[in-house]
Amino acid sequence: MVKKVPCTVVAGGFWGDEGKGKIISYLALKDRLDFCVRTGSVNAAHTIWFEGKRYALHMVPGGFVNQKCRLLVAAGANVHVAQLLREVEQTGVKNRLGVDGQASVIEEKHSAQDKSSEHLRGLGTTGWGVGPAIEERVRRTAKLAKDVPELASYLADVALETNRAIDSGKEVLLEGTQGVLLSLFHGSYPYVTGRDTSASAICSEVGVGPTRVDEVVLVFKSFVTRVGTGPLPEEISKEEAIKRGWFETAAGTGRDRRSAPFSFELARRAAMVNGATQLAVTKLDCLFPECQGLREYDRLPVEAKRFLERIENETKVPVSLIGTGANAQDLIDRRG
Ligand code: IMP
Ligand code: MG
Repeated sequence: MVKKVPCTVVAGGFWGDEGKGKIISYLALKDRLDFCVRTGSVNAAHTIWFEGKRYALHMVPGGFVNQKCRLLVAAGANVHVAQLLREVEQTGVKNRLGVDGQASVIEEKHSAQDKSSEHLRGLGTTGWGVGPAIEERVRRTAKLAKDVPELASYLADVALETNRAIDSGKEVLLEGTQGVLLSLFHGSYPYVTGRDTSASAICSEVGVGPTRVDEVVLVFKSFVTRVGTGPLPEEISKEEAIKRGWFETAAGTGRDRRSAPFSFELARRAAMVNGATQLAVTKLDCLFPECQGLREYDRLPVEAKRFLERIENETKVPVSLIGTGANAQDLIDRRG
């Protein structure tokens, strides 16, 4: 495996909350990312621990932890202006953020529509209004970023910048949100989000063609979680989840996350649909507590190694990054 790659896509393998934020922040520092491009919308929260502080970012790209990294929001993204500006303040990235003028804008009315729709409530949406906002975009009546005065100083041609960056050999990361099982096309419809969340869709939102991508890092957690309604095979009770140390609440909405054991079958399909070239497996320490904080593969207990080998055998994709704790640096990096 090659360590330094010009263009990497990071996508989620299950129902979101796999730990993409952690993986992205690690890569941003380790691979000295030059560009990090955020797709999707405000419904996603990427949790990042950096210098002892926890960030739950809904809009600012996770690459912010690297001071040199240019941060972009894709044309296909859906921007919540107030949330973006709050996070810009919080992360201090004003001078290195760019928002594509063609990105659509999510407004208060969309959230109201989301929350008052019995149908959408029944799907267990986050309530941010992403479904209604994208409906508007499809109807071609949506407001775009270029029409918002507060965003004037941030406007950028993200497709052009990103492709130029790739041309000149810069380190570029395209940041996906949620997971493939929440994809409008490939997920458990209708219990999905309002857009395709697969690796190809991430590229499409940015305006980067499939031939320009070198690595697709698909992120799995060591167990499966989902928030909202819809099927979750082999779901365990909240009590059982607490007992196993798997119980989580959503970074964005604070709701309980439902949980289930790792599914090799779902992982296989996710690897296929995303064209994964590498896998990241996070929270290995929740499955095997002895792994907590380890940074060397050889020191993993044999059962943990067996678990990872089985993932590789089933998906035919190497596990290159293994999360062993909350901090960006609690990670085993098997690349190159
Ligand atoms: P919406 O995306 O807010 O419309 O919600 C649709 C479904 O996607 C619901 O089941 C949400 O819980 C789920 N969802 C949306 N964003 C996320 C996320 O970032 N993590 C986990 N689930 C999400
Ligand atoms: Mg999340």
